[in-house]
Amino acid sequence: MPTSVLVAYGTTNGSTAQIAEAVAEVLRKEGLTADLLPAGSVADVRPYGAVVLGGGLYAGRWHRDARRFLSRHGRHLAKRPLWFFSSGPLDASASERDIPPVRGVRRAMVRLDARGHVTFGGCLEEGAKGRIARAIVRNGKGGDFRDFTAIEEWAARIADELLKERAEN
Ligand SMILES: Cc1cc2nc3c(=O)[nH]c(=O)nc-3n(C[C@H](O)[C@H](O)[C@H](O)COP(=O)(O)O)c2cc1C
Repeated sequence: MPTSVLVAYGTTNGSTAQIAEAVAEVLRKEGLTADLLPAGSVADVRPYGAVVLGGGLYAGRWHRDARRFLSRHGRHLAKRPLWFFSSGPLDASASERDIPPVRGVRRAMVRLDARGHVTFGGCLEEGAKGRIARAIVRNGKGGDFRDFTAIEEWAARIADELLKERAEN
């Protein structure tokens, strides 16, 4: 019975972690149990009835921790209801239209039969790690483009689906 959900994330600057936190909060509010963990510190996904995995986008790929999570736990993920999210675009594009998953994530969705994916806007602000990140912020191209209303709506749909299935079983 998918009552216990793992929400795992790969992040460099923390903004994807905050999206994951918002997702976990909604799941709990809707009556599910949700554990929120950095993808790199998950030892075993088998205790969970469903998994939500999110990764920040870096150079057209998911954060390394999210990719490693897939290779480490793939066998068990394939047997569970699974959703992905990405966070990246530093403009309004993710709020204006559906942005498809990057190639590696798309392949993982097919391989693991993931139920859904969404791209949320990203966030890059003062104090971000890395030379490129700091240059982006310095050049005025940073900012917070996360839409927490959209994030919460997406999480609520996941909760609905899991609760409906639980009721049917
Ligand atoms: C070096 C670098 C590369 C990035 N590459 C992409 C990218 O390919 N696609 C994208 O949508 N966003 C890209 N971004 C924006 C990040 O995905 C965005 O800041 C995201 O919110 C980072 O998540 P985090 O705070 O969890 O690390 C990049 C940012 C940096 C600093």
